[in-house]
Amino acid sequence: MPWPNDPQGPLARSIADLYWLMFGAAIVVLAIVVGALVVAGIRFRERPGHQARQYHGNNLLELIWTVVPTLMVISFSVLSFQRLALVNDVDSGAGMTIKAEGQQWVWNFQYPSEARFQLNDKTYLSQPAELHVLAGQKVKLELSSKDVIHAFYVPKLGGQKDAVPGRDTAMWIQADRPGSYAGQCIEFCGTGHADMLITVVAHNPADYDAWLATALKDANRFTDPAVAKGKQFFTTLACAGCHTIQGLTNAKVGPELTHIASQKTPIGGVPGLDVNEGNLVKWIGNAPSLKPGVVMPVFSNKYGGPLDDATINSIVQFLLTLK
Ligand code: CUA
Repeated sequence: MPWPNDPQGPLARSIADLYWLMFGAAIVVLAIVVGALVVAGIRFRERPGHQARQYHGNNLLELIWTVVPTLMVISFSVLSFQRLALVNDVDSGAGMTIKAEGQQWVWNFQYPSEARFQLNDKTYLSQPAELHVLAGQKVKLELSSKDVIHAFYVPKLGGQKDAVPGRDTAMWIQADRPGSYAGQCIEFCGTGHADMLITVVAHNPADYDAWLATALKDANRFTDPAVAKGKQFFTTLACAGCHTIQGLTNAKVGPELTHIASQKTPIGGVPGLDVNEGNLVKWIGNAPSLKPGVVMPVFSNKYGGPLDDATINSIVQFLLTLK
């Protein structure tokens, strides 16, 4: 049910429980106060044959309406401080620590310096906007900010906390079950504030491993040996003589390839020849067979034979990184 609060983890539930307790108590107090007001207004009003009596002081009543609210405020304070202690207890039982850095206007998540998150270039996996965790595991978040004050808030999974430039803060979240949980920066931080969204994806262990494998593969694209080789082929073979890739080559014969991997129009304008691995391999292997009359020739290796598959494949792997 889309309640304003719909806790899906132990911390969020603890906070929601107190919320409902306070809300219930407020309703009861409201009913008693308004009820007494209405009853008094009707029963004791001045009317023909009845004159309103004047009271001054009723020790019992005054005692009740002093002591009861005082006790309520004290008990809610105690319960609130208990929750605060729980919110701030970021370390005990935490299965993982992830750094969350706020920046106008995106959150960046840096995964732990553990072997399983390591990339080929010896750095560690980091990703923007989407945070991947294990369902049922307490995750500590170390918050920081690059510029202004942001605040991390995923309502279903935990409390909220500021990310303050120059100061380290920490919080924790936990999801009961696998799923996708929406969140949002909740401190006004500039014109892009409303778009500073967070998605926490909680996985079961098998899904988490699958996600991690894909994420590592994507992040390793640029340090992948095949990609590095492809880049070298591109700049040293014929490709560079015709195609521009900004920052790498500068030639005007063929189309620019700076963002070829995210190009929406087909390769060479050939209907149905969408940009993907298979089609790029075919195209580089023999463009004239796909588009008769095209300027791009069939390339040969230095012995005059056809360009070998490994070379073409490396070039394609490199092109696919150009998003
Ligand atoms: Cu960042 Cu609002």
